[in-house]
Amino acid sequence: MLLKIYNIRLIIVNRRRQHLKFDGKKYHSIWYDRDKVYIIDQRSLPEKFVIEKIRTSKEMIAAITDMHLRGAPLIGVAGAYGTFFAYRESFSKPEPEEYYENMISKLRNCRPTAVNLSWGVQKIDGLIKMGLELDRVLAAVKTLERNEIECCKRIGANGVALIREIFNVTGRTVNIMTHCNAGWLATVNYGTASAPVFRARDEEINIHVWVSETRPRNQGGKLTAWEYFHENISHTVVSDSSCGHLMQNKMVDLVIVGADRIAKNGDTANKIGTYLKALAAKYNNIPFYIAAPVSTIDFSIKSGRDIPIEERDENELKYMNEAPLIHELSPALNYAFDITPAELITGFITEKGIFKPAELLRLTL
Ligand code: MRU
Repeated sequence: MLLKIYNIRLIIVNRRRQHLKFDGKKYHSIWYDRDKVYIIDQRSLPEKFVIEKIRTSKEMIAAITDMHLRGAPLIGVAGAYGTFFAYRESFSKPEPEEYYENMISKLRNCRPTAVNLSWGVQKIDGLIKMGLELDRVLAAVKTLERNEIECCKRIGANGVALIREIFNVTGRTVNIMTHCNAGWLATVNYGTASAPVFRARDEEINIHVWVSETRPRNQGGKLTAWEYFHENISHTVVSDSSCGHLMQNKMVDLVIVGADRIAKNGDTANKIGTYLKALAAKYNNIPFYIAAPVSTIDFSIKSGRDIPIEERDENELKYMNEAPLIHELSPALNYAFDITPAELITGFITEKGIFKPAELLRLTL
């Protein structure tokens, strides 16, 4: 029955609930059903809506590494399912503990920047080490998943206040800029940076979103624009390099982006290109917000200097759909994330409220 879903292009969206609705069925970006995890293969969008089945920890590691699924909160939940799989598989292995430890080490390290991945693995691993039975481990993964959904919903409710305030003061359409994809595809539902946008649409606040393309993998153009199109959100895709120009020309009221890891002092790792947007926002007096669940804050590190920056294959930069963009003998360097210093960040929109960088420590109490 699932095979029927491959290659089908017609997608209907349930606007109020922010679930993708296809053929009368609602979707999250990940779900568990009868021993398997299902994901939407994000590499195929926007052309095709493909559902992929994941049965083992090895398949989960490959799907995260090769970005069939991506986005910090989503890979956190995927890491939790992967840990459950590794535990389940270990029962049939000659050296169960060795097997399990090896698989979860691979899992937590397959994408190094987003702290949510190691957070999801660690949460479930902690329960396994306490001796929880398999079915209770699975129940814990599902609880973690539900909590992440709830956090994103609250991020939307908290963040919409910023949009509403601008709308009430100006009385005109609020122009928001975002980067990469921090919508429901990058979480399980609702999104982080996109959650206030969806909520503003629900509250009938006039908004328009500038979606920056996000080279080299184009998560903005391919995924965020796809979500907004189907969610009926007014948006325009722009090249990454035009964002400073838009800000300089008063075409942006507010920037909201997601995060992959936030250090204790508020320095934030997010998709490469975020730092340049924050610099341009500061220079042009435009508020710059990070939207993320508290699980994205790594209180164990002091500053952005301690955040590992993932470097991906240079071919992601050099080729587009296998066509060369760059001379094949020219070397390329493909950093996937950058660090935005706390002093450029106006505030953090979390499920617990909106905080200035210096107030983040309150969240440890
Ligand atoms: O490399 P990606 O696509 O996983 O990077 C994702 C981002 O940088 C997102 O902005 C971030 O994870 C926030 S997702 C809600």
